[in-house]
Amino acid sequence: MAKQDDTFKKVISHAKEYGYIFGSSEIYDGLSAVYDYGQNGAELKKNIREYWWKSMVQMHENIVGLDASIFMHPTTWKASGHVDAFNDPLIDNKDSKKRYRADVLVEDFREKINQKIEKDVAKAKKRFGDAFDEQEFRSTNGNVVRRQKQMDEITTELTRVQEENDLPGFKKLIEDLDIGCPESGSKNWTDVRQFNLMFGTKLGASADSAMDLYLRPETAQGIFVNFLNVQKTGRMKLPFGIAQTGKAFRNEIVARQFIFRMREFEQMEMQFFVRPGEEMKYYEYWKETRLKWHMSLGLGEENYRFHDHDKLAHYANAAADIEFNFPFGFKELEGIHSRTDFDLKAHEEFSGKKLQYFDHELNENYVPYVVETSVGLDRMFLAVFSKSLKEETLEDGSSRVVLKLPAVLAPTKAAILPLVKKDGLPELALEIIGDLKWNFNVTYDEKDAVGRRYRRQDANGTPFCITVDHQSLEDKTVTIRDRDTMQQERVAISELGSILGEKTSYKTWLSKLK
Ligand code: GAP
Repeated sequence: MAKQDDTFKKVISHAKEYGYIFGSSEIYDGLSAVYDYGQNGAELKKNIREYWWKSMVQMHENIVGLDASIFMHPTTWKASGHVDAFNDPLIDNKDSKKRYRADVLVEDFREKINQKIEKDVAKAKKRFGDAFDEQEFRSTNGNVVRRQKQMDEITTELTRVQEENDLPGFKKLIEDLDIGCPESGSKNWTDVRQFNLMFGTKLGASADSAMDLYLRPETAQGIFVNFLNVQKTGRMKLPFGIAQTGKAFRNEIVARQFIFRMREFEQMEMQFFVRPGEEMKYYEYWKETRLKWHMSLGLGEENYRFHDHDKLAHYANAAADIEFNFPFGFKELEGIHSRTDFDLKAHEEFSGKKLQYFDHELNENYVPYVVETSVGLDRMFLAVFSKSLKEETLEDGSSRVVLKLPAVLAPTKAAILPLVKKDGLPELALEIIGDLKWNFNVTYDEKDAVGRRYRRQDANGTPFCITVDHQSLEDKTVTIRDRDTMQQERVAISELGSILGEKTSYKTWLSKLK
């Protein structure tokens, strides 16, 4: 745990030091769980968004984009169920005065048991080597079986208290498991209460005519209310999808873990409209497709896993998370939800307008079913950034901090470095920049010895350093250094555009999905 905390602290301080993420309004001592993206962060975030958008909208003929507003008619949220059901169960510790999500306390407790199981499995794997039969071990080892049973019992009871909204039962579960306050260890708990997560605001100039509004807690509803607009104007045939990225707001009870859980965050969501009865086929399809998208970034397949939901949201008939191995363990990165016809039907009912599709093949009207993919852009940022940050010991015994961002996402694709600040080398370097900058975000750096500049760019996440030396003046070649391997190659200046294009283009990276 201490090692995890240490790694996470390094991630946070590196993000600040290199202009990726700052605390919001820091000069006023900041605002809890609200962050600003700096000069590099804004680029990385934009590139992640673009990587998602291209894979969804550009690469799928039957998916189109949308940019709906954050403010929506307040009835939207009544229809969607968010006014009545978008709650988190909260509990306070009377001694430490700390507030927690009751479900998270129980889930964290269960995860600790899971970690013990995984430790036993890993130990046995090491001991038995190739002869190890993991399935057999999991089903016969006394400790593992007992712990798994305990976990299953916790899951069943947690699901029950949530589904039945049994708040006294929730408190009893916490007490029965003997869960203490993570800060103080105290077991002196208040009752569990429900807390609505939507932020309210007002629209209008005068107090009496102002209308109560909510800041959207998910971008999805903007897609649902525009379903027919897009379907008709785009002459879309089922199955088809509408994709959107944008800000969402949630008054999270416990906003923590840096940009993992924020009160203002960005989502990248896609609603895929299908014939009723075909939703499970597409649910499986999108689970696999989204997992492949994540894996295409090369952060390590072992860092992803699916988690099927025990408790379904009020709109879903199946749901799974793609979890990622963050510095604080496996947590939700993306949700894939089969939302049935819940939302469109509810909007039909509350608006009195039909939201149906005429299926020419079946010759009938119906409300489509929806499979949703929903990933947090900030969480993607944290996943990519935290897994890319490495400390390496080099062959000569020295060490370097390197941010091995996937080249397609890196804010700056190449730094152009004149070996010395004279003899016409800066002029040639600037000429190269003048050519490359039309297609790539490149930077110029002439300060300090070239070795220090390499280190600076390594820590900044720049995948390539192009060095202009005296030979460059004679034969129009430069060296290009790869951040990850530190290998240098001499290439013609005229080839730089195509080399960078090949290594950093969306095409190169997204074609791994095929
Ligand atoms: N439209 C469905 C929906 O909003 P969700 O599971 O509540 O589903 C989807 O959220 C994704 O949004 C999550 O997987 C996560 O990546 C991101 N997300 C949710 N709450 C967040 C928060 N408070 N801070 C940052 N990201 C969040």
